[in-house]
Amino acid sequence: MTTTRAAVLRTLGQSTTVEDLTLAEPRAGEVRVRILASGVCHSDLHVRDGDWPRPTPIAMGHEGAGVVEALGPGVRSLTVGQPVALSWLVPCAVCRACVAGHPWACPDSPSFRHRMPDGAIVLADKGGGTVLSYCGIGTMAGATVVPEAAAIALPDGVDPAVAALIGCCVTTGVGAVLKTAQVPAGASVAVIGLGGVGLSCVMGAVLAGAARIVAVDRVAGKVDVARSLGATDGLLATDDRAANIEALRDLTDGGPDFVFEAIGQPATVELAIESLPLGGAAVLVGMTPVEVQASFAVYPFVDGSRRILGSNYGFADPPVDFPRYAALHLAGRLPVERLIDRRVALEDLESAFDRLRAGDGLRQVVVFD
Ligand SMILES: NC(=O)c1ccc[n+]([C@@H]2O[C@H](COP(=O)([O-])OP(=O)(O)OC[C@H]3O[C@@H](n4cnc5c(N)ncnc54)[C@H](O)[C@@H]3O)[C@@H](O)[C@H]2O)c1
Ligand SMILES: [Zn+2]
Ligand SMILES: [Zn+2]
Repeated sequence: MTTTRAAVLRTLGQSTTVEDLTLAEPRAGEVRVRILASGVCHSDLHVRDGDWPRPTPIAMGHEGAGVVEALGPGVRSLTVGQPVALSWLVPCAVCRACVAGHPWACPDSPSFRHRMPDGAIVLADKGGGTVLSYCGIGTMAGATVVPEAAAIALPDGVDPAVAALIGCCVTTGVGAVLKTAQVPAGASVAVIGLGGVGLSCVMGAVLAGAARIVAVDRVAGKVDVARSLGATDGLLATDDRAANIEALRDLTDGGPDFVFEAIGQPATVELAIESLPLGGAAVLVGMTPVEVQASFAVYPFVDGSRRILGSNYGFADPPVDFPRYAALHLAGRLPVERLIDRRVALEDLESAFDRLRAGDGLRQVVVFD
């Protein structure tokens, strides 16, 4: 049994608290990871703000990286000291999606129960009460115990903050472009929303060789960052949807072949669909609060053979994709470090959430000594 500090959400919609927790020793098929960095993803904010039903109390965080510190019995794929990024979706391996080779679509992942695959809970508070681990990894903590399959070995030399982002936003955004949409070289792309996920879509579009990449946000500084990553055009979105659509069409010869929505608001989902040209595809990456609906005109959608694609976790197979994205980063072709604008302590998580809610800044990362 060890102890760790962790950001715990006790009540949906209320502040997280930093608590000292006990952490069980890794059992068979589990490893203990010392967390070095945990990105602050908007999905954490959805959880914190109660947009999604989630059980509590729960140790927050799902975009984390560190080093393996201890192995449970029988763990063979990892060694102590190995740098890892954590996957927030461990596939069940037996459902229809998993058998078909689509682990990102697994509806029965143990990660969704926020426990170890056998149902065990590894964290407890001072009073002995159990504390769940978000997605079975709870990365906003100095240490965590996770299933072996959630700890993905990375090559040496990747900054832990970059490795953390590979655990969620990079894999989500780059994968949406390269794997979900399979954007061909020369295509035109628009990315709506330039947080960690949207900027990763921009980097993915650059890798894909998209000829036109229009970066859309309400914040001019984010559009500038997207341009520096290789976006060919920027668009400062306003509340005038017709004007946004017209601007997107003007920049892309009648509409982008692929529009990536990386916010999760009905208005921008509808903007993505309405701006499509004939045969174009809207790729929905942003997550709304549950039960939010969006609508679109059916006739032109069908008549124009347009498409809507949902993209969970960038269609990731983490043991395959995390090392690939890390290798691209080390080769200078995925400049993930430029998405990070602030490194904060665990105590600053609530102020990081305030900043994220306000749309300020780029990716913030909680770092641990
Ligand atoms: N599909 C997945 O597997 C997956 C994985 C991770 C995150 N997500 C979701 O992706 C979304 C984005 O995550 P993030 O961490 O990048 O968030 P973020 O808050 O950092 O980024 C959102 C961006 O959208 C911009 N924005 C907001 N409203 C806008 C508008 N009306 N028009 C133009 N720009 C606008 C903001 O300025 C910000 O730059 C969230 O909903 C998150 O839950 C999905
Ligand atoms: Zn995330
Ligand atoms: Zn499955």
